Amino acid sequence: MPTIAHTPQLIDQFGRRVDYIRLSITDRCDFRCVYCMGEDMTFLPRNEVLSLEECARLVKAFVSLGVSKVRITGGEPLVRKNALSLFEEVGHLPGLRELTMTTNGSQLEHYAHDLKKAGLNRINISVDSLNPERFRKITRVGDLNKVLRGIEAAKQAGFANIKLNTVLMRGFNDDEAIPLLEFAIRQQLDVAFIEEMPLGEVDHSRESTYISNKATLKLLQAHFPLISSAETTGGPARYWRVAHTHTRVGLISPHSHNFCEACNRVRITCKGELYLCLGQENKVDLMPLLREYPHDDTPLKEAILASMQIKPRGHDFDLRRNAPAVIRFMSQTGG
Ligand code: 5AD
Ligand code: SF4
Repeated sequence: MPTIAHTPQLIDQFGRRVDYIRLSITDRCDFRCVYCMGEDMTFLPRNEVLSLEECARLVKAFVSLGVSKVRITGGEPLVRKNALSLFEEVGHLPGLRELTMTTNGSQLEHYAHDLKKAGLNRINISVDSLNPERFRKITRVGDLNKVLRGIEAAKQAGFANIKLNTVLMRGFNDDEAIPLLEFAIRQQLDVAFIEEMPLGEVDHSRESTYISNKATLKLLQAHFPLISSAETTGGPARYWRVAHTHTRVGLISPHSHNFCEACNRVRITCKGELYLCLGQENKVDLMPLLREYPHDDTPLKEAILASMQIKPRGHDFDLRRNAPAVIRFMSQTGG
């Protein structure tokens, strides 16, 4: 009988197929967003962080196990020295259908063109306010104009479906949902509004800044003709199209549980920890396998396959609990 060569697949104990990884390549960032970090952050020493070569090895191992979508995150991925080389190394990998990046946009004006050439397919850019002073207040140090130039550079470089990510917070930017969507329509961008997640200890009470996406949707529906879209990403986002425009609006509700059933993703920290769920502690350390077996990916791939047995059914974020749901920050786990 002829054997049909097929790619192995990552299937967890609930029958969910994992075909999407999010890889954080640095915990460092040039911003200090209030929902993401404390004012004084201690970052990891360099030898505890995966080298870019190790990052590329991981991407290749996952793709050989049937992963077809990879998102590079941080921290801010573009503050990592030589980050571009990783994109160049994996950008045209056969089997990798989609390579994406989440960025704060601060360095994009310098890299957009080369990233496109390297094979990056899509970019998500975090923008929490269109008011420069407020932008500075939320990011503590960020320069809005740099980010706007970054968005323009990404458009010029030919990226399609650029998406803005906005974390809406009561008392910070809750009156900007409408202006941000207007901006996205003018610029022909998509926009996703994200509920704040209890990741890491920050300076404010998360309960006091929380705005539900239900309220955001109601507000937007009163101002824009939104057409519900059936698209799902296997993630916590639901999408609407703004009629007669090129813009889609996503509402991301990490607090609702129903999307865990269709979860198709795992995350890898910049330390090489494979987290099977954003809101749970179940993990496997991949760095020792990378370093002990520099020329043999078999132990690495076996560990990844085995990790499917400990992928949890779902997460449990509870804002009323006075502690973060998980102690690690988004900048450590990868957004
Ligand atoms: N809650 C929600 N979103 C967060 N991000 C970072 N920390 C949090 C949090 N605690 C967002 C950033 C970025 C994406 C990677 O994750 O704004 O858009
Ligand atoms: Fe940096 Fe993104 Fe965290 Fe802001 S949310 S501090 S841009 S990693």
